[in-house]
Amino acid sequence: MTQPVLEINHLVKQIGAKQIIKDISFSVNEGEIFGLLGPNGAGKTTIIRSIVKLISKTSGEIIILGKNIDTSYTEAIQQVGAIVENPEFYPYMTGLQNLKTFASMSRNKISNERLEEIIQLVHLDKAINNKVKTYSLGMRQRLGVAQALIHEPKLLIFDEPTNGLDPEGMKEFRLQMKMLARQGVSVLVSSHLLTEMEQLCDRFAIIERGELTHIADMKQENLAEAEQLQTFHMHLEPLELSRELLTNWKIDYILADNGTSHFFVKSSPSDIPSLVKKLVSEDVSIFAIEAHTKTLEERFLEITKHNGGSME
Ligand SMILES: Nc1ncnc2c1ncn2[C@@H]1O[C@H](COP(=O)(O)OP(=O)(O)O)[C@@H](O)[C@H]1O
Ligand SMILES: [Mg+2]
Repeated sequence: MTQPVLEINHLVKQIGAKQIIKDISFSVNEGEIFGLLGPNGAGKTTIIRSIVKLISKTSGEIIILGKNIDTSYTEAIQQVGAIVENPEFYPYMTGLQNLKTFASMSRNKISNERLEEIIQLVHLDKAINNKVKTYSLGMRQRLGVAQALIHEPKLLIFDEPTNGLDPEGMKEFRLQMKMLARQGVSVLVSSHLLTEMEQLCDRFAIIERGELTHIADMKQENLAEAEQLQTFHMHLEPLELSRELLTNWKIDYILADNGTSHFFVKSSPSDIPSLVKKLVSEDVSIFAIEAHTKTLEERFLEITKHNGGSME
């Protein structure tokens, strides 16, 4: 296992008497997209601002590729590309002029080829010679990503990057991040939207009132979901025969209590095809079969409830 790209150990931020961040620890691996999920006021921005030292932390340790930000800030931050506030651009300059201005401030010489490459990556090639004041929010956001990428960082940090983007813009951002992750770049990203985190991240931490209550691993969550028993609504005729067969086969079901032959069967999804075959071979007519999958919110509550917390 290679060293983590970002390591946060026992981060605490106190303002006045209030602990805004309460002993948070997590790490982000190479090529991993890691999310911070939580409602407004949970502490996501405070965590991110502490990492890039826009604010000072009260205690704890932040290490970027082995460099502690307290003792080796310059070396640590060289590895980071971040959009923490809304990216600021000169509106009367073109996208390209903005990027070149930013590149000229970099300690390394940035070649035109490198700029071209980044512009293509964020799909701004057509608009790059237009003035930024004519850009949509999505285009500004992509220009922000381009700016963050200029010095080839190993770690990208974005605070609520898709706020205000339309679904198409969100998808575009997601695909870009996944492509960068495949090239070995790590991404730390915050959001208050569960669906977004599920689609974008490999893992995400749930932050509630300054505490990290759970780390969801999408690989494991998907696996767990596939193996879970689900409820299937089945409309089977005739009623009596269907009831008898399901009982004989020791299927876990309940029957609608209004006298109609609607069954609610508990089964793992992988057992459904063989059940259907058996029913058909016994001359049962199947008028409907439908999975009652849990909504994301239900699953989210499941994740958070056994920690005693709640969102909002
Ligand atoms: N400078 C500050 N002074 C006092 N309270 C603050 C300050 N900055 C943030 N907070 C409080 O800390 C909590 C976390 O804020 P923040 O990190 O912005 O949350 P998020 O980004 O998850 O919405 C909130 O309750 C907020 O009011
Ligand atoms: Mg915030």
